[in-house]
Amino acid sequence: MWGEVMRAVVYKGPKDVAVEEVDDPKIENPRDAIIKLTSTAICGSDLHMYDGRTVAEPGTVLGHEPLGVVEEVGDAVTSFKKGDRVVVTFNIACGHCFNCVRGFTSACLTVNPEIAGGAFGYAKMGPYRGAQAEMLRVPFADLNCTKLPGTAGDKWEDDFVLLADIFPTGYYATKLAMLQPGASVAVFGAGPVGLLTAYSALLQGAAQVFVVDYIPERLDLVKDIGAIPIDFTKSDPVAQIKAILSEKEGTSEPMPPEEQKMATVLGSMDPSGNDPVTEIEIMRAGNPAIIGSWLPGEEKMKGVMCGIDAVGYQARDRNDPSKEKPTQVLDDLIRLINPTGHLGVIGVFMSNDPGASDEHAKKGEYMLPFGQLWEKGMSVGTGQTPVKAIQEMLRDMIIGGQAKPSFIVSHRISFDEVPEAYREFDQRANGYTKVIIKPQK
Ligand SMILES: NC(=O)c1ccc[n+]([C@@H]2O[C@H](COP(=O)([O-])OP(=O)(O)OC[C@H]3O[C@@H](n4cnc5c(N)ncnc54)[C@H](O)[C@@H]3O)[C@@H](O)[C@H]2O)c1
Ligand SMILES: [Zn+2]
Ligand SMILES: [Zn+2]
Repeated sequence: MWGEVMRAVVYKGPKDVAVEEVDDPKIENPRDAIIKLTSTAICGSDLHMYDGRTVAEPGTVLGHEPLGVVEEVGDAVTSFKKGDRVVVTFNIACGHCFNCVRGFTSACLTVNPEIAGGAFGYAKMGPYRGAQAEMLRVPFADLNCTKLPGTAGDKWEDDFVLLADIFPTGYYATKLAMLQPGASVAVFGAGPVGLLTAYSALLQGAAQVFVVDYIPERLDLVKDIGAIPIDFTKSDPVAQIKAILSEKEGTSEPMPPEEQKMATVLGSMDPSGNDPVTEIEIMRAGNPAIIGSWLPGEEKMKGVMCGIDAVGYQARDRNDPSKEKPTQVLDDLIRLINPTGHLGVIGVFMSNDPGASDEHAKKGEYMLPFGQLWEKGMSVGTGQTPVKAIQEMLRDMIIGGQAKPSFIVSHRISFDEVPEAYREFDQRANGYTKVIIKPQK
């Protein structure tokens, strides 16, 4: 039994988090549940706050990716009882408003006086304490908890914690980009979200999936799941992908000079110390046969049908990755996506960014090649993931053995290691890809 206080991760200010004692959560409403957490993850979204790039107040308890066991339920909770194993959606939603009933629990109209949508431990997302703690109060528990089989710490623990946000988010990114089986897909960003977007695209039968980043450990994971890694520091990733998509088999037709140059670059590249021949074979597998079946005119479609921004407003400038360029990925994707193709922006953009470098960016205003986007007749999907609508189906894929999203988990840590993990994860250093905190001693 615990006392009146518990440990939690508290935002103190830019680049500063501490593990502090805070009051235990209590049932405040009959529809609440209290969950004792067994795993709780750190998200790329937490780093926006850590970097001082949101309006988060010092003192905020962070975290929104909780997995645990029900400790107590309010009188009006009917679906759960003490001892049930549950994962909690990062969205907090009521279940009965105009948006919730249509499945958009990400834009609930009743839980946050400021905007549509609420979440645990996040700037602007309502007065809810975060989940990087020993225990969590979950409002509207019948909706926001999802029941799980097994017991804490079993073979699914690392997979199930990813159901709170990142696996549904990766899957939702493919919906924003209107993925269909057989589609060609480019994902920018090989963080947890980008990796699970690529994984979800492959699970749904995408023909070829490219993933762009520059962090070697993350590009290795891209290759492990059967997607095609593209290192943007080698050269323009759009030209690299188009060169691969244009490679012809059994034809004497010469490639255009720019693409020929790119193919040479690719042929000689060895980003992860692997044999270049093997690398290039993996990268081009299956593709020449697709090109061989094109009809005249279809060469105008040598980009991808689905492009996904899994980076957001803190995108790196390709010419100098030590700097940010918020529009870098959107610019690249608008060039790469085919006419009538689809752009999914799952990476976060914000309307308040106090840490931005210019007056427009501080208000979330950016210059984009909108004319090109319009001429191509591209659809654009954006926004937060409505986790609940997806979570149970992905849970059953994990239980059924079709999906094992925990391949992204790089670190499992205790509370004592949290400040260092934030520092390292913020640098995306030393293989830090997905960190899971184990809150119980
Ligand atoms: N829409 C939602 O509901 C939702 C949910 C969770 C996370 N997110 C957002 O998704 C984004 C990614 O999250 P994550 O946890 O994977 O974060 P992350 O920061 O670990 O991953 C981002 C990756 O993008 C790479 N990158 C940076 N600039 C790039 C560029 N120009 N081209 C290609 N790659 C580039 C980085 O090297 C990094 O590996 C964040 O913005 C996060 O806030 C959105
Ligand atoms: Zn998250
Ligand atoms: Zn609602």
